[in-house]
Amino acid sequence: MRRYSLLFFVLTVWAWTLNGEGAGEEGVEAPEEATPEPPSDELLEEDDILVLTQHNFGRALQEHRYLLVEFYAPWCGHCRALAPEYAKAASLLKNESSELKLAKVDGPAEKELAEEFGVTGYPALKFFKDGNRSQPVEFTGPREAEGIVRWLKRRLGPSATRLETEAEAAQFIDSQDIVIVGFFKDLQDEDVAGFLAIAEDAVDLTFGLTDRPELFQKYDLSRDTVVLFKKFDEGRADFPVDEELGLDQADLTHFLVVHSMHLVTEFNSQTSSKIFEARILNHLLLFINQTLSPHRELLKGFQEAAPAFRGEILFVVVDVAGENDHVLQYFGMNATDAPTLRLINVETTKKYVPGAGGEITAASVSAFCQDVLSGKVKPHLRSQEIPADWDQKPVKVLVGKNFEEVAFDASKNVFVKFYAPWCTHCKEMAQTWEDLAEKYKDREDIVIAELDSTANELEAFAIRGFPTLKYFPAGPDRKVIEYKSSRDLETFSKFLDNGGVLPEPEPKEPEVPLPEAGANDSKDHKDEL
Ligand SMILES: *[C@@H]1O[C@H](CO)[C@@H](O)[C@H](O)[C@H]1NC(C)=O
Ligand SMILES: *[C@@H]1O[C@H](CO)[C@@H](O)[C@H](O)[C@H]1NC(C)=O
Ligand SMILES: *[C@@H]1O[C@H](CO)[C@@H](O)[C@H](O)[C@H]1NC(C)=O
Ligand SMILES: *[C@@H]1O[C@H](CO)[C@@H](O)[C@H](O)[C@H]1NC(C)=O
Ligand SMILES: *[C@@H]1O[C@H](CO)[C@@H](O)[C@H](O)[C@H]1NC(C)=O
Repeated sequence: MRRYSLLFFVLTVWAWTLNGEGAGEEGVEAPEEATPEPPSDELLEEDDILVLTQHNFGRALQEHRYLLVEFYAPWCGHCRALAPEYAKAASLLKNESSELKLAKVDGPAEKELAEEFGVTGYPALKFFKDGNRSQPVEFTGPREAEGIVRWLKRRLGPSATRLETEAEAAQFIDSQDIVIVGFFKDLQDEDVAGFLAIAEDAVDLTFGLTDRPELFQKYDLSRDTVVLFKKFDEGRADFPVDEELGLDQADLTHFLVVHSMHLVTEFNSQTSSKIFEARILNHLLLFINQTLSPHRELLKGFQEAAPAFRGEILFVVVDVAGENDHVLQYFGMNATDAPTLRLINVETTKKYVPGAGGEITAASVSAFCQDVLSGKVKPHLRSQEIPADWDQKPVKVLVGKNFEEVAFDASKNVFVKFYAPWCTHCKEMAQTWEDLAEKYKDREDIVIAELDSTANELEAFAIRGFPTLKYFPAGPDRKVIEYKSSRDLETFSKFLDNGGVLPEPEPKEPEVPLPEAGANDSKDHKDEL
């Protein structure tokens, strides 16, 4: 589930924060040969950041017990965006401790270092401890100054506060909206190490730790448990550690994400990334106009229905009177449709619409959720009407309603462009597609077609990027071949003439050393949904 595809702007944020540089930048030139310099291990600084090379790297490790190293490339856009934040973090940390230092390495110029530390994309941040050159820790924190500082401090200090007395615990739990306390009978247990490892990474949450029997008793616990205390919704959620299998770090991480979210989240630019990061597959959206009190009253029932689906369906409120037109658009709705519900599975992008005319109550919301989960409600597929002249021009126009019949016609080889009206890469290839259709217009067995994927959804598959090209060869097998080669007339023609495969492997472009993180061919030339 690397790429959600509900809203493209969210995706951009999402992809940025998780993947670092997304698509490779165009016009990347091979880095020039570094001019040979006399090897010196002198440590130079720029803006409180050490500038490291293969010659002084070892010395930096010796002199600084904690070292965060950024591998960057001169041509990498996200590196440039990170630079001021990184410099600010360095200045914030200046007074903290001389043991801790920020450093940077020009990856393409220092190939040996980039290779040694397995750098495969830029920027890459790695944390070195105790001069240990093997197996540095990947930096997983937020890519802004305060976030970097918080992440580093977690690694230097204890990542969880030890709680000894009832008063300490009460004060700690009261100190934040959300705190997490690990109750472990034996602090030497390896489950505790797992708990602390999570605390080191989850820098936005506050962690405490105790082994005191009186605290187990006070909080009604008889066995090792991680408790998330919150000042909203249920107030508290318990994660009992499995006595046989021990603490499962992935399960606990998921538990913390799910339970630190409010039962009902209002959708806006601040919450959207959190909504998607929660990695809950189903989102139930209540569309209301918040300025209308009869609409606001529906929130109560919505909220009431939420706890039963915690972790399985995320409840989200969308204010149609707010800046949420893109959400309405995505669902093919307008503000006058509110109040109403939509459920979407963000992995399959299948959408579900409740039966018309029903009231929105706790009971009806629960029933709708249950019916979707049990498969009783079929996904709602959008389709435009079939245009009267859909087959009059060389490029045939497909919509949801005629797609099956045309694309899976057993007597035809059908080549379809799935596009979005706003997508630039689609516009770039529009003429070529028409030329292709013109060229093959007299071939009875070949159909060149296009479908606007923003207005037409298909049961067979979801389209996640634009343009997507798929070939549906003749025959009864409903075969689908994704076309991933160059988008020019010559290559298209070869592909068609050869029955849906290219005659020989494409000559590979010379590899650019160290592509940016997440570089992906298909993403490179596509606009995301
Ligand atoms: C660091 O310390 C110096 C001198 O002690 C002080 O002037 C400066 O404001 C401090 N900077 C920060 C970011 O705390
Ligand atoms: C360096 O760290 C690795 C992994 O944590 C560890 O296996 C290794 O023993 C350490 N080396 C030294 C010299 O401490
Ligand atoms: C929301 O309701 C108000 C009336 O209170 C109305 O003026 C406004 O146009 C509505 N907003 C939308 C987007 O429909
Ligand atoms: C809103 O959508 C409804 C149908 O969903 C349609 O009847 C109505 O004309 C639309 N209103 C506007 C202002 O687009
Ligand atoms: C590129 O993206 C596509 C679609 O998301 C995925 O199937 C493929 O595995 C990715 N390739 C690489 C090298 O990440």
